[in-house]
Amino acid sequence: MSILVTGGAGYIGSHTCVELLNEGYEVVVLDNLSNSSVKSLERVEELTGKKITFYKGDILDRVILNEIFEKEEIESCIHFAGLKAVGESVAKPWEYYTNNVTGTLTLVDVMRQHGCKNIIFSSSATVYGEPAEIPISENCPKGQCESPYAWTKSMLEQMLIDIQKADKEWNVIILRYFNPIGAHKSGRIGENPNGIPNNLMPYVTQVAVGKLEHLGIFGNDYDTPDGTGVRDYIHVVDLARGHVKALHKIDENIELGIYNLGTGQGKSVMDVVKTFEAANNIKIPYVIKNRRPGDIASYYCTPEKAKEELGWVAEYGLREMCEDSWRWQSNNPNGYEN
Ligand code: NAD
Ligand code: UFG
Repeated sequence: MSILVTGGAGYIGSHTCVELLNEGYEVVVLDNLSNSSVKSLERVEELTGKKITFYKGDILDRVILNEIFEKEEIESCIHFAGLKAVGESVAKPWEYYTNNVTGTLTLVDVMRQHGCKNIIFSSSATVYGEPAEIPISENCPKGQCESPYAWTKSMLEQMLIDIQKADKEWNVIILRYFNPIGAHKSGRIGENPNGIPNNLMPYVTQVAVGKLEHLGIFGNDYDTPDGTGVRDYIHVVDLARGHVKALHKIDENIELGIYNLGTGQGKSVMDVVKTFEAANNIKIPYVIKNRRPGDIASYYCTPEKAKEELGWVAEYGLREMCEDSWRWQSNNPNGYEN
């Protein structure tokens, strides 16, 4: 039996493939490579000494989905495939709703036709909107989303919940990621953004490697200890292991589970800059800029539910996240292109 990993060539997907293969799972990846390179999968194979069955294709394409479920014995699907750039989603809502929402509905429809009713879905902390409480627990109500991207996650959560409610054969696990950063210890796989990065850590590493001149810090007048925005950064390898724990939970027929995956520790932009500098002995020049529209002062979770029910705890701290992000970036200044 195999695990179907959609979007498995991407940042979080490739790290999850490593953990799955190391745990002895057979892995089938479906990815259209719209935001990734097949080289990530070659490197996963090199790191684990195991093979991945790769299908280049789209979750919107029923033909390839049917082919996969006919040829492979898929027991569960970990569903990462999706578009994820918040700003781009504002400019291209149709593309985001079609790819993420229609794509997921197509995938789920083909899954049920083939009797595979176990899915782990990549959701995001962004579904909480302006959070009603900090730290954010899963009991915190979902909020108004800031972008079409965030709405796709919020809507898909509800769709999966309703599908599970109507058919109890489904096991649905929704994982709400906080801020994934870091890379595999080997420095062979990592985050490979297209163009100028939107997110903090890839921006910092590109300043460190000399591709960008300085970091812009979006506001230092927030109501936080040092005035810069606070987030719950989580090492991508810890996040990947959370998916393996979720698969174990599916074996227990959980039916429905919703979990925050974060460390529970809020770190500011300045904490990230200072920790990166100290861990890697590199200066990060920065300038203070205006606040970025839509940003919230503090966003961090309580990961207690994942600890109690999945037996999952994040092991890595911010220093390791900074070291590992830098190892990946400095060894691969052009991502998978060199
Ligand atoms: P990524 O872009 O690196 O990976 C997504 C993968 O899906 C890519 O390899 C892309 O080529 C593929 N893909 C996109 N649309 C597809 C389609 N229609 N058919 C087949 N493949 C398709 O992103 P990531 O950071 O690894 O994120 C993985 C998932 O986690 C996404 O669903 C994302 O929204 C979610 N997520 C990410 C973050 C984050 O900060 N990275 C935070 C919360 C949630
Ligand atoms: N920041 C800067 N300068 C930059 C980039 C970011 O100061 O160049 C700051 C932001 O203002 C924020 C913090 O760094 O305070 C983190 O910003 P990111 O863009 O790295 O991450 P966000 O918390 O804004 O958003 C991320 C993902 C979303 C996801 C959300 C919650 O990009 O997809 O986490 O999971 F929805």
